[in-house]
Amino acid sequence: MTGDEIRESFLRFFEEKGHKIVPGSSLIPHGDPTLLLTSAGMVPFKPYFLGEAVPPSPRLASCQKCFRATDIESVGDTTHLTFFEMLGNFSFGDYFKEEAIGWAWEFVTQRLGLPREQLWITIFLDDDEAFHIWRRVGVPEERILRFGEEDNFWGPAGDSGPCGPCSEIHYDFGQEFGCGRPSCAPGCDCGRFSEIWNLVFMQYNQDRDGNRTPLPKCHIDTGMGLERTAAVMQGKTSVYEIALFSPLLDCISEMAGIKYGFDDAVDSTARIIAEHSRGIAFLIADGVLPGNEGRGYVLRRLLRRAALFGRRLGLDKPFLAEIAKATIKKMGHVYPELIERRSFILKVIELEEARFGETLSTGLELLDDIMAERETDRAGEISGEDAFKLYDTYGFPVELTLEIAQKQGFTVDMGGFEREMEKQRER
Ligand code: SER
Repeated sequence: MTGDEIRESFLRFFEEKGHKIVPGSSLIPHGDPTLLLTSAGMVPFKPYFLGEAVPPSPRLASCQKCFRATDIESVGDTTHLTFFEMLGNFSFGDYFKEEAIGWAWEFVTQRLGLPREQLWITIFLDDDEAFHIWRRVGVPEERILRFGEEDNFWGPAGDSGPCGPCSEIHYDFGQEFGCGRPSCAPGCDCGRFSEIWNLVFMQYNQDRDGNRTPLPKCHIDTGMGLERTAAVMQGKTSVYEIALFSPLLDCISEMAGIKYGFDDAVDSTARIIAEHSRGIAFLIADGVLPGNEGRGYVLRRLLRRAALFGRRLGLDKPFLAEIAKATIKKMGHVYPELIERRSFILKVIELEEARFGETLSTGLELLDDIMAERETDRAGEISGEDAFKLYDTYGFPVELTLEIAQKQGFTVDMGGFEREMEKQRER
């Protein structure tokens, strides 16, 4: 099944189960100051969970564009993405665990046709109700694992709001893909397991101090990762091997003159560029502009990281607009905003990438000066203050300072850099 087919199949399935299909919202949350970006399918529905607004139907289903800036450093592995699509079914004071679990199981085993013996379930520690429902639908006891708050309690999205215990469905690619440790189980980061769906049993409203009060009604919020599910359906262990990513990786390979799939370091770099480029196009399409704070900074950081990783592949001329074109071509039929704002997206990328090029040149000159001074001092070390000044005042990435310094036999006081960074954070 392709990504398009999974999206369609999910929405039709829940339509048959009495859900109203609603279009996904913008990546910029509407009227929600607690969040920078839409990080889950439930975000547009927070007022419905809290009883502050009435939903158009007590049962909704959607495919939502999501962005998780917190995962930016994990991108490049096989499962983490900053931008991804989340399929979800929602109940507002209507059905609860029984139906949510029953339908999730029906969808994965019958519509997707995933083998039961390759599915594992996780539940919250004392959620015996969920345990018994999973047992009733046919999951063997030994494949239902209990985890604590860290793994099986979801939310709130932002610093306050609806949250509750959750239950996840994990796909097992098989022992041969695992690390072989006796402790290897769903949640292990070795790549054997992929969490494809999270069912949240919304029961509490959490305030800013972490206090939880029961919601007047219980709700359901589920999220199935489209890219991860597509990978499983296409027999791939990595989300980057699915058809949604291949034109992007092809575009990068062609521009950089590399072959994907032969060198781990090169592949991981190409994946980061592809992933970030997709996020960049979608953020700009929804009206985010590069800036020094908030969501503008998320976009700027993404673009700079993509440009820097590009340099590792020898891409030192502007190249990001080309990958954006591939993204628009691949995703435009599902997200028409990409097509409508095509020229704007490309223009913003070109300007920002050119600007970053200037930043790099200025930074390189300053770094040269610093090193020339230090050479006469014979200190051979770039101070934390200097590295931080380059980063903070001139936007010169510290990893580049480190790389260039090392090539010229210098060290960088990274401890000092971190201390300066901490001071800045506090300021
Ligand atoms: N809100 C939950 C999640 O993001 C389920 O949709 O995982």
